[in-house]
Amino acid sequence: MLTLSRRSLVGSMAALAAAAVARPALAGDKKKDAAPAPATPAPAPAAPAAGPFVLPPLPYADTELAPVISQNTLGFHYGKHHQGYVNKLNDAVAGKDWASKPLADVMKGTYGTDATAIYNNSAQVWNHTFYWSSMRKAGEQAPNGKLNDAIKTSFGDLAGLKKELSQAATSQFGSGWAWLVSDGGKLKVVKTPNADNPIVLGQGTPLLCIDVWEHAYYLDYQNRRIDYVTAWLDKLANWEFAAQNLG
Ligand SMILES: [Fe+2]
Repeated sequence: MLTLSRRSLVGSMAALAAAAVARPALAGDKKKDAAPAPATPAPAPAAPAAGPFVLPPLPYADTELAPVISQNTLGFHYGKHHQGYVNKLNDAVAGKDWASKPLADVMKGTYGTDATAIYNNSAQVWNHTFYWSSMRKAGEQAPNGKLNDAIKTSFGDLAGLKKELSQAATSQFGSGWAWLVSDGGKLKVVKTPNADNPIVLGQGTPLLCIDVWEHAYYLDYQNRRIDYVTAWLDKLANWEFAAQNLG
């Protein structure tokens, strides 16, 4: 199970910041020699706020999910949205006992209570941390070993699993998530709205998740969620991570 560490963010934030800095124009530059600029530059990350929770480093460079997920989308999603959830969580727990608890305990302990800001932001921090690890450098990869056996038992084959995950991801109304979970020795696919996840809902152990909030894909795919999900399943799904979570 992935847990949020309190490691320093210096490395990852510096990498993102470096990626966001445009090359300055030089007096001797000729237009034809200038490096091609991206259509939309990657954003500078949001400033981290003081508090017990921190943004964990990405498990890959912010260019390695392309062309499925662009550096620009990842820059906003990680550097603005995920960092924003971390900042809001730190604000919400300030002066409360939750500030000294592990992230998963905060998420589970505030679900269904009136501490909605703490719940929503802690769950979104957890979900996004899990989502980053649910992806790997873009390319072909297939599950094997015990995970592959479990997929065959529960879905017939990998195509059957992808079909169920795609249906869950594209049919989730509004913002939410699609998940592959292990429940009672069987794999299943579930979807959750907003910040909810299978842990707080008692739906099983998460193995993999797809973020279907519009901020995850809109810059690259606009309203074509199905194209994002299809490319994600074919090129980004991290089956090794799913296998580790299956245990
Ligand atoms: Fe997201």
